[in-house]
Amino acid sequence: MSLTLAILVSGRGSNMTAILQAIAERRLDAEVKIVFSNNADAPALATARGYSIATASIPHKGLPREAHEEKLLEVLRPLEVDFVVLAGYMRILSPRFLREFKHEQGYFRVINIHPSLLPAFPGAHGYEEAFEYGVRVSGITVHLVDERVDHGPILAQMAFGRLSDDTLESFKSRGLKLEHKLFPEVLQNIARNGVQYFQRTTSVVAHDSPVASDLATASKGVTA
Ligand code: GAR
Repeated sequence: MSLTLAILVSGRGSNMTAILQAIAERRLDAEVKIVFSNNADAPALATARGYSIATASIPHKGLPREAHEEKLLEVLRPLEVDFVVLAGYMRILSPRFLREFKHEQGYFRVINIHPSLLPAFPGAHGYEEAFEYGVRVSGITVHLVDERVDHGPILAQMAFGRLSDDTLESFKSRGLKLEHKLFPEVLQNIARNGVQYFQRTTSVVAHDSPVASDLATASKGVTA
């Protein structure tokens, strides 16, 4: 089945671009009906227009959450999309908003990508917090959204190792590369097999980054 999507973004939009590129290259059987931002200056909006995708922006500043979401719903309702895709949308969605996308099987048709192995490091600074904590293995998560922040049924995760010479920038950029791979793949799996697919399959994918050799390197520096 071809999926219809609304993509919500707040800034750069590299995940959105990965999704649009996957559609353009026919790796993802989906149609993006709109790219929406709460930030009129989000670079993602110009990128989306470059792909001939309709865009809309409604700044949240000065509006109560409920009023902002109602305006967003006015944009989304007529489009009747299969899924709302959060690709770096840095706003919490209220239960009232989510209810509009409730599937008869109980889940909300809203999908998020998060830059950590949830439930570790939820919030707006997943990479930074994981890096500062000193995790040896981190990762990314694609999940269905529920009423809690960065929470809900996990669809897929990919792990990557922290290298001994990683800086925050190199750590982030390896993670982001995985995001760009995983998000379109998950959406394509939903297009082909439905959300139920993820209940029947192992969803943690170990990335082939040198986790093991990195651990060996790390352990050399450990004295008993
Ligand atoms: C991505 O790393 C995404 O995982 C993260 O924001 C970034 C957006 O980048 N999302 C969250 O932290 C959600 N809690 P992008 O605009 O280039 O896709």
